[in-house]
Amino acid sequence: MDLTTRYLGLALRNPLIASPSPTNAELGHLKALEDAGIGAVVLPSLFEEQLLARRDRLDEIFAQGEANNPEAQSYLPTQALDGPYGVAPDSYLELIRKAKGALDVPVFASLNGSTPSGWADYAAQIEEAGADGLELNIYYVPVDIGVSGAAIEQRYLDVLASVRREVRIPVVVKMPAYFSSIGNMAQRFVETGANGLVVFNRYLQPDIDLLQMKLSSELELSRPAEMRLSLLWIAVLAGRLDCSLAGSIGVESADQVIKYLLAGADVVMTTSAVMRHGPGHIATLLAGLEAWCEARQVPSLDGLRGVMSRDRLRAHTAGVYERANYIHLIEHYASSVSHR
Ligand SMILES: Cc1cc2nc3c(=O)[nH]c(=O)nc-3n(C[C@H](O)[C@H](O)[C@H](O)COP(=O)(O)O)c2cc1C
Repeated sequence: MDLTTRYLGLALRNPLIASPSPTNAELGHLKALEDAGIGAVVLPSLFEEQLLARRDRLDEIFAQGEANNPEAQSYLPTQALDGPYGVAPDSYLELIRKAKGALDVPVFASLNGSTPSGWADYAAQIEEAGADGLELNIYYVPVDIGVSGAAIEQRYLDVLASVRREVRIPVVVKMPAYFSSIGNMAQRFVETGANGLVVFNRYLQPDIDLLQMKLSSELELSRPAEMRLSLLWIAVLAGRLDCSLAGSIGVESADQVIKYLLAGADVVMTTSAVMRHGPGHIATLLAGLEAWCEARQVPSLDGLRGVMSRDRLRAHTAGVYERANYIHLIEHYASSVSHR
């Protein structure tokens, strides 16, 4: 069964990609993902805050060093540069180099930021360290109610442009699902230089702990039911943008992988399932995908990809992806309730 896939102009052995997670910072885990058959991996994000903190501390150290020794740079203690979260910037470049050395599959890096200045030049170092591509997770909550949607959209585009300027490797935007016009933003990301879009980023909102009367932010892994919005937009965007599309959120079994491919995704990403079942789960997902294709005598993913996209279905069932389906669903639900 031929599962080979093109993503960002690269040839992958199959469409499964391990999306960023803390375990993707461990070489042993990355190697286990590769042994289980993964098509490519994305390293966990390095955060804008880490890069800015590092820069501030470097400035501080240089300022002190200048007074004592103009060659202070040569003996900077690396532990002094550790950022507030996870992997520190210098170790991150080392992680890219090691992952590239240890793995045959493509290795993508990830940057998480929300402002278009001060840190984007780090992307050039990521490219230099050997990353095959760079995923950009642009995240902030626009709590200032005076800021317009147009200004927020422009901020996203400016962040992308500032990173795009720094590198030649493919850049992928991990898209939020919260723009007024998802399709138009997708198109503008591509016009601004995105080579791929992850549809979508999964945001974690805080909860309120009623017992302790405080905000809680427990991280919950995703469930398959959460995939519907991503599935809808993969189906709507497939074949209409000059970029790769990655289906993301809610993969648990091969069923979700197949659905994303049918909707038109080039690749499918997974984190929660790997965290739940371990890296060996990738082999289970691939076996399920192969079995499904073989049972239907589909020799390669070309015979499956996009078959259920909006463009391909348009003649028969355009409404399913649009508003008309809403009435049908509610009518159907109402009649099923009244018959109980
Ligand atoms: C523990 C954990 C850590 C994550 N860390 C990152 C990260 O560093 N950068 C990022 O872009 N996404 C991160 N994510 C999001 C995942 O990459 C993924 O997009 C999300 O979990 C949705 O996919 P899933 O439904 O397959 O889990 C993280 C998710 C989890 C559960």
